Amino acid sequence: MKKFLLVAGFLMGLSAPDLYAQGNNYVQDYTKYEGLALTPPMGWNSWNKFACNIDEKLIREIADVMVSSGMKDAGYQYINLDDCWHGERDSLGFIHPDAKRFPSGMKALADYIHSKGLKIGLYSDAGSQTCGGRPGSRGYEFQDALTYAKWGVDYLKYDWCNTEGLKAEGAYKTIAAALKRAGRPMVLSICEWGNDEPWKWGPAVGHLWRTTGDIFNCFDCVEDHGTWKSFGVMQILDKQKGLRQYAGPGHWNDPDMLEVGNGMVVNEDRAHFAMWAMIAAPLVAGNDLRSMSATTLQILTNKDVIAVNQDSLGIQGFQYREKDKLEIWFKPLQDGDWAVCFLNRNDIGQQVNFDWSKEVVDDSLSKRKIEIGGRGYTLRNLWTKKVAGTTKKAFKAVVPPHDVLMFRLSKN
Ligand code: GLA
Repeated sequence: MKKFLLVAGFLMGLSAPDLYAQGNNYVQDYTKYEGLALTPPMGWNSWNKFACNIDEKLIREIADVMVSSGMKDAGYQYINLDDCWHGERDSLGFIHPDAKRFPSGMKALADYIHSKGLKIGLYSDAGSQTCGGRPGSRGYEFQDALTYAKWGVDYLKYDWCNTEGLKAEGAYKTIAAALKRAGRPMVLSICEWGNDEPWKWGPAVGHLWRTTGDIFNCFDCVEDHGTWKSFGVMQILDKQKGLRQYAGPGHWNDPDMLEVGNGMVVNEDRAHFAMWAMIAAPLVAGNDLRSMSATTLQILTNKDVIAVNQDSLGIQGFQYREKDKLEIWFKPLQDGDWAVCFLNRNDIGQQVNFDWSKEVVDDSLSKRKIEIGGRGYTLRNLWTKKVAGTTKKAFKAVVPPHDVLMFRLSKN
């Protein structure tokens, strides 16, 4: 391995001292880079909208719009290429991008993205092939990590197709070690769909882990693909039950990427975005930013909702009550603030009547409690931006179908 690394390093322009400076060559460090993703990662990923149909022109244009639309200013940072950027491995095993789709090469694309003040993510797979049938990293982990580092990659999503005989924890530890050894800090996004309870071993190994199978662009449906299923926004939300204790700064539950702007109606997009904010999910847009409507942009760049998601405490929100498909969720925030979200999953509008003086919102996980005494809290509607009274009075309103009312509670 030492010899191989040296050869690989020389081929890639690293010197022997560079390689040896990374420490002794037979002890591996199977842990992630610390200090990354202290709040849920925000960015864009190609898969939900474009699947395998990606090329460097598209990615450059998306990076341009990320900046010009104001999304970068709103906090979006990563431009992530999902499956199918790959070409072939060469005779020495080095992976190359698809030469037709990425004629300028991956380093040039990374340089372009960096020149915009953004970061670049790539995708690979722990198995022999990716889910899209491209070369996987199995057996090439250290070599691929060196290649990604040399290109200037900042984020790696690592999938779980074609992994015959592998165990997830071990396989993800191998790629974490490879990234460490390659020496460039990268976010590691564990994508094994929650099969092997990654929330239990993932926090030390990666920065986020998928908790479910793939999202499907519908509010409340399951899409059957024959050998596998994908899930609507509400189904994915339900699968997050019991996981909030595992999330926190640097390590997040990942309920999959956003479908905002991909075809649901506007109230469903709003509810989707609001709930992903409430559960401290990574906010990875999955739509065509180049042609999005003003409404989609408004949802994706709602700074108050993003602030709930990006809150520095990093506490995932929780469901407080559910009745007749009306759910009430809370999320403790820094400075004693709270977010509250009334989610109506029903097909008809539903009346809320929430009398703060009769409720006890007491989160044993974060040891935080809403104190209704004294002057109470002001409620600010995070979508209309209007103040909607205080906790001194019962809150009464109608939540439209498949929609949310979302507020920030601040101490008076
Ligand atoms: C899996 C992942 C998706 C996407 C595709 C690409 O299904 O869960 O998010 O990366 O593979 O093939």
